[in-house]
Order: sequence, then C-alpha cells, then structure tokens
Amino acid sequence: MKHLLSDFDFNKEEVLEILNLAREIKKKPEKFFGALKNKTLVMLFKKTSTRTRLSFEAAMTQLGGHAIYWESRTSQIIKGELLSDIGKVVSRYCQAIMARMYRQLELEELADSSNVPVVNGLTDVFHPCQSLGDLLTVKENLGKLKGTVAFLGDCGFNMGHSTLITFSKIGMDVNLVCPKKKKYQPNPEILKRAEKEAEGKIKIIHNPVEGIKNADVVMTDTWVSMGQEKESKPRIKDLRPYRVNSELMRKANKGAIFMHCLPAYRGFEMTKEVIDGPQSVVFDQAENRLHIQKAILLKLIK
Ligand code: CP
Ligand code: NVA
Repeated sequence: MKHLLSDFDFNKEEVLEILNLAREIKKKPEKFFGALKNKTLVMLFKKTSTRTRLSFEAAMTQLGGHAIYWESRTSQIIKGELLSDIGKVVSRYCQAIMARMYRQLELEELADSSNVPVVNGLTDVFHPCQSLGDLLTVKENLGKLKGTVAFLGDCGFNMGHSTLITFSKIGMDVNLVCPKKKKYQPNPEILKRAEKEAEGKIKIIHNPVEGIKNADVVMTDTWVSMGQEKESKPRIKDLRPYRVNSELMRKANKGAIFMHCLPAYRGFEMTKEVIDGPQSVVFDQAENRLHIQKAILLKLIK
C-alpha cells in the first residue's frame, strides 16, 4: 500500500507513469468508466476548497465509484476525536482517503493509522496533486518537460515546495523567486532533499526580474494562504515586488505561459491583464486536476 503524502512519495518513473495515464484518460475518458466501480473515497476537509473537492468527487463518479465529502467541522474531530482513531475507523469504510489538513503532521498521523492509501489534498507543506496536474499542463502547452519554471512569491509554503520538488525531479530548472526573509524561502530540509533528487537546476533568486529571465513557465500563488490570514498585512507588503504584471511577464521567454493553482486574487500576486491574458493557462490547469486525480486514484486503489 502506498500513500501520497508529499511530492517525495513518487519517483520520476512513477510521476511519468501517472502523467501518461492522465493524458490517456483525458483523451478517452469513456475507456475508464467503471474502473473504480463500487469503490469509495472519503474526502476529509479541514479547510475550504473549490477544485480539490470537486475534481476528486467528479473523478470518483466518472470512474464508477463514490466520494464522501466529510467536513471536519461536522465530524467528531472538533470534539477532539484522535486522528489516530479516525484513520483506523475510516479505512474500514473506504478504499482511499483524501485529506486537506492544516498541518502536514496531522496528515501523517492520519496515514499512520490508516489501512488504505491516504492522499494529500493540501497541507501547509505540500500540495502534490496540484504539482502533478501542473506537469500535465506544462507538457500540453510547451510540448516538453524541459526549460525553466519561475515560481514567484511565497516559496516557503505548500505550492513553493511542491513545485520545487516535482519540477526539478522531472528535469526542469526551477527558480524560486522570493524575498530574503526566512519564512518566504523553502524549508531547508526540503530544499536539501529536493536538490539530492533533482535532475534540473534549482536557484533561489531575490530579484524578480533576474528570477523570471529565461523562464518558460511563470507561476505564482496567493500571498496569503489558508491559515496565514492573521499575517496578511505584512505579507502583502513583503511580497508586493513579486507581483506578476505584464511588464515583468515580458522579461520571461517569448511564448512563456502563466500558471496559478487558483484561487487567485487579481491586483495582488498578479494583475488582471496577466491572469486573463493570452499567456495564461490557469483554467486548463484547473481542468487538469480532474484528469490527474483519476490517474492518482487508479494508481493507488488497486
Ligand atoms: N488549487 C486548489 O487546490 O484549489 P482549491 O483550494 O479550490 O481546492
Ligand atoms: N497556497 C494556497 C494554495 C491554495 C490551493 C493555500 O494554501 O491557501
């Protein structure tokens, strides 16, 4: 049994396998109808969601199975039921669990007691389903998984880490473009392990113009992630120089694409012109969550 708790859980071959399966599913979804017949996915959410919830639920429906949306607020978790008990109980009802938690440690606690695969639907540290879907979007738009991805903004949270690990592992160069303050930089242990597994080059760059130069993919994320709401004022101030506007976008390679996992906040991490402009692929990126979720579920639920 295998979990997907972080981007380190799949090696390059496994990532390519999931990617190829997702491409096949996208081309001929009907071929996979019924592939997870009578299977159940329990989806535990401690945070809000649009894409993750809907794409996993639609994926299970289209594969012939069923997904149960389970919000922690309406569960016994808020009364203090232990995650280690939850894992043991829930895995008796289903073939896989997908969970969106505040802390990575909570997810690991749940996985430790689960007898079925657990998938990370986002924590503070990783968002692996997103970065796998993002690879699919890059492959479709650039026709290859080579070149440079520049990730601008908060590189010390889930999207920065997942992009760093998954894209460098596959062989792309990754520029993490962020302020000098420690909290915006990748976790040193994660960076070290990513560097060890990387086929592409990894750079941390503080100057946004320098960081975006030669980029084939320009990526950003919200400046205030779920759970960081109390720090929103200083974050907006610190990250302001990393806003992706048309002028900055012009410094990237010709034909560069703009990506964002969404939800996006126009006028903050990027301007309206960029996200609604011709280089943006954010809605294809959102759609690809569906195809990649199916591939992940098929790989983990045997
Ligand atoms: N990108 C992403 O995970 O979106 P949601 O938070 O809406 O699920
Ligand atoms: N970094 C964002 C990603 C949302 C999908 C957050 O954690 O809120």
